[in-house]
Amino acid sequence: MTMHPTPHKTALITGASSGIGQALAHHFAQDGYQLVLAARSVAKMQALAHDLQKQFKVQVTVIGADLETDAGAMQLHADMQARGIVLSALVNNAGYGAFGEFKDTALPSELAMMQLNMNAVVVLSKLFLPDLLATRGKILNTASTAAFQPGPYMAVYYATKAFVLSFSEALASELEDTGVTVTALCPGPTASGFQDKAQLGNSALIKGKKLPTSQEVAALGYRAMQRGQRVYIPGFMNWAMAQSMRFTPRNLATKVVKILTRPLA
Ligand SMILES: NC(=O)c1ccc[n+]([C@@H]2O[C@H](COP(=O)([O-])OP(=O)(O)OC[C@H]3O[C@@H](n4cnc5c(N)ncnc54)[C@H](OP(=O)(O)O)[C@@H]3O)[C@@H](O)[C@H]2O)c1
Repeated sequence: MTMHPTPHKTALITGASSGIGQALAHHFAQDGYQLVLAARSVAKMQALAHDLQKQFKVQVTVIGADLETDAGAMQLHADMQARGIVLSALVNNAGYGAFGEFKDTALPSELAMMQLNMNAVVVLSKLFLPDLLATRGKILNTASTAAFQPGPYMAVYYATKAFVLSFSEALASELEDTGVTVTALCPGPTASGFQDKAQLGNSALIKGKKLPTSQEVAALGYRAMQRGQRVYIPGFMNWAMAQSMRFTPRNLATKVVKILTRPLA
């Protein structure tokens, strides 16, 4: 009997230059996926690509992409098509938050955040879906525990993650008979570049707290994606908090988040 080598699976990871995305890249590479890494920091991704190629002998392509515009996301898809890459996993992970009272936060950066956290997820899911249907592939969307209730002091960010969770669950349902799975990974606060970018240093949410590492969260998220789990919340306390919000009056849930996130003196 002739043995055919297993065809390569290829995964695209957005936001692969740092934090959870970078850590996820290790798991895909360890499983033999070829990788496409996309973010703006090309040098960081090239260093990661070098490490992964050396350690796991997989092919890694780095594409510099700014996903804060629809055109940027469409260009990423066009670049990959031009290279003849067919995806079997799409990881919509790039994203960031902004901390502060809505009256003070900057509108341009909030609009850009909405583009990245929501529009890029929709654009890439839409454009790569034919690939994923053909390969019976997987989508992993990084949402957040922020998705489960409103978030005073991070109002726009929490709303973007509610969008990601809702979109992911609906898409998972539509695709349930196709072999394509969709997983919304919903981490709580996690050590990464996120806190500096969101200027969260002064928030009760993280100040003085020991946060799980990006590696820990990525390992759990990767396994949830492999199982095809629709919604996965790493950490018992995060899970318990998200469940409790379902039975808590909305005003009370919002008040709790306001206290937990408030700026400290
Ligand atoms: N850390 C947390 O506490 C936490 C909790 C829940 C959910 N999350 C979510 O986890 C995901 C990953 O964040 P992280 O915690 O790993 O933070 P991170 O270390 O800051 O990583 C964010 C990634 O997004 C990329 N990115 C930012 N702007 C981009 C743009 N315009 N175009 C393309 N890529 C862009 C960054 O790359 P470049 O800057 O190189 O472009 C980086 O690779 C995000 O969706 C975040 O909302 C984080």
